[in-house]
Amino acid sequence: LKVLVAGAGGQLGREFVVRLADGEHVVTAPHEKDFNIGDKDSVRRQVDAAGPDVLINCAAYNLVDAAEKEFETARFVNALGVRNLASEAKRVNIAFVHYGTDYVFDGKKGAPYVEDDKPAPINNYGKSKLEGEILLCKETDNYLILRLSWVFGMGKQNFLYKLRTWAEKNDALKIVSDEISVPTYTETVVDCTMEALQKGMRGLYHLTAGGYCSRFELAKHFLSAMKIKVDVQPIGMDNFEFQARRPGFSAMSNAKFAECIGHPLPHWSEEISRFAARCSEREAIIS
Ligand SMILES: NC(=O)c1ccc[n+]([C@@H]2O[C@H](COP(=O)([O-])OP(=O)(O)OC[C@H]3O[C@@H](n4cnc5c(N)ncnc54)[C@H](OP(=O)(O)O)[C@@H]3O)[C@@H](O)[C@H]2O)c1
Repeated sequence: LKVLVAGAGGQLGREFVVRLADGEHVVTAPHEKDFNIGDKDSVRRQVDAAGPDVLINCAAYNLVDAAEKEFETARFVNALGVRNLASEAKRVNIAFVHYGTDYVFDGKKGAPYVEDDKPAPINNYGKSKLEGEILLCKETDNYLILRLSWVFGMGKQNFLYKLRTWAEKNDALKIVSDEISVPTYTETVVDCTMEALQKGMRGLYHLTAGGYCSRFELAKHFLSAMKIKVDVQPIGMDNFEFQARRPGFSAMSNAKFAECIGHPLPHWSEEISRFAARCSEREAIIS
């Protein structure tokens, strides 16, 4: 496949570049200065130059708290940028892959969300991402929207990286235990996306690891897998003054995706252990 990736500098975009460098695919992955998805001309130039079979959007405005004050900036990328990409994909008649978020839900269901559940975002980031999905569907029906949650991989813009930096500077950490979702590994997202494309899947799916956990459980598991010794205590979300409200329970079920792809997805705890091993291996090479 000839693949054009938008947002190639982010954690998921970088993983696409790494994993698709296998000779089987031709990947074009311009950086944001040459491929600003909010700029229609920039999008058209890149699509015409690459002549892709599929357009994959990893670009997003992901600053959940900052989006409360910068709603229009978030919309520019997460809604209008997505519309630009979808419209170009339609023009050249190719599939468009886009990533959504569990933050389109309000967290009140109390059980894992399925694709038919009605979104009701409670913060501006979630609203901008939902608007992106809606605009996308108006432009093209040749799409794959994969909603993700708690994405982690190599890079600094994720909870696990922050956790390690906090653990280096403190003997004890307090981590929220009433925010629950599913940690999802970039490697798995890339592999599952390519499998879904090969199978010709189209439409909206929830793509997460198996099970779910609180941030507290995630922190304990990851730090123990990394053999980092630090005392971790649970704490409630209301002890922090976040600018954006967050859904309490936003775990999504991957049952529809797993059924269509033909195999179950690994449990989040296995994914965290696999990621910890990758980090340790990499650090051993560097040192
Ligand atoms: N991270 C999570 O926990 C999470 C959870 C649920 C869903 N998702 C979704 O998963 C997808 C991938 O997220 P990620 O974690 O890889 O995000 P990320 O690391 O923040 O990467 C997003 C990339 O998009 C770039 N970008 C921002 N505005 C752009 C523009 N106008 N044109 C082109 N590129 C632009 C960013 O560049 P700058 O850094 O220079 O701004 C960044 O490199 C996104 O759709 C995200 O909403 C993520």
